Amino acid sequence: MAEAFWQRWRLKLPLVQAPMAGGATTPQLVAAVSDAGALGFLAGAMLAPQQIREQTEKIRALTERPFGINLFVQGMPAPDEAELELALSLLRPWHEELGIAPPALPAGFCQPFGEQLQTALALRPALLSFTFGILTSDQMLACKEAGIAVVGTATNLAEGLAWAELGADAVCAQGREAGGHRGTFIGEQQQSLRPMLSLVYELAQNLPLPVIAAGGIMNGRDIAAAMRNGAQACQLGTAFLRCPESGISAPWKQALAKAGNGATCLTRAFSGRYARGLSNRYIEEMAQWQDKLPAYPVMNALSGPLRAAAAQAGRDDLMSLWAGEGVADAREVPAAELVSQLQGEWQAAYR
Ligand SMILES: Cc1cc2nc3c(=O)[nH]c(=O)nc-3n(C[C@H](O)[C@H](O)[C@H](O)COP(=O)(O)O)c2cc1C
Repeated sequence: MAEAFWQRWRLKLPLVQAPMAGGATTPQLVAAVSDAGALGFLAGAMLAPQQIREQTEKIRALTERPFGINLFVQGMPAPDEAELELALSLLRPWHEELGIAPPALPAGFCQPFGEQLQTALALRPALLSFTFGILTSDQMLACKEAGIAVVGTATNLAEGLAWAELGADAVCAQGREAGGHRGTFIGEQQQSLRPMLSLVYELAQNLPLPVIAAGGIMNGRDIAAAMRNGAQACQLGTAFLRCPESGISAPWKQALAKAGNGATCLTRAFSGRYARGLSNRYIEEMAQWQDKLPAYPVMNALSGPLRAAAAQAGRDDLMSLWAGEGVADAREVPAAELVSQLQGEWQAAYR
């Protein structure tokens, strides 16, 4: 059999730290994970090209080990007036509750993907991973020419096949348990919610490329189970959120510490794209409107000031608290310690 995917980067274990946009994946977290022998990932999607450059330089000042950069494949949206008005009118009572002025419309609704990609290519990380969409063949060629391994996110078989046909080096299979945004870009969201183990098995059976398992993996036994189902590596996000190096806000960390099993749900109410996080009052009260809200990234940009003000005020009932189904098992330990514990548990699972 060909060399296992993760051995290309001489990792101590088949572990990828999930890129987590919104501040979680600080240079300190990425460097600590890579230094500990797993694969750190910088979430570049919400960063301007210059910030991607600066954060990458910081990671490189902290570690010589390989790491990846992740981006959202998206175009600049052009929302119509009516959908903007509806969203702003639904947000108004929440702004009033927090005592903040109605925010001005953002100049752009997201960072320019083309420029982010050019910047990331020039930085030559070991890997680039993508979610929310798929590259053009020219973009894929540019990655190959830069010698960068490409990982595409898939939430169903059609997406996995599309990445395989394009020539990706691996596919990240995002199961329904996963925290954060769903990557779905082919077919219906609701049809793309397979549990991680069965999605991994299906993709590993049908794709000619390595599969990285993601969703609800919290300990070494979960890693072993995903590998037994055909994964060549595992991508963990929620497990790293409570590490001291994770850059999420204090109220978010406190909410994670209190979360029990069954604390999460999928919602479109914050961002216009389905994402998994801790349930709260905002999600419950906005549920009736969520299908009428503008799609990502428009709603995400519109709700940004509310979420920032709520975090500032310690109001976790109004914050987006992204987390996966396994949140109750997330540990409050330094990232290197977590990698080492996972390695020990993973090895023990085979004994
Ligand atoms: C807070 C948070 C932010 C995330 N942001 C990203 C992102 O920027 N890019 C991405 O590809 N995946 C993102 N994800 C999804 C992860 O890549 C991965 O699918 C997920 O964390 C796996 O499930 P787990 O959280 O149960 O480990 C995010 C997940 C979380 C929890």
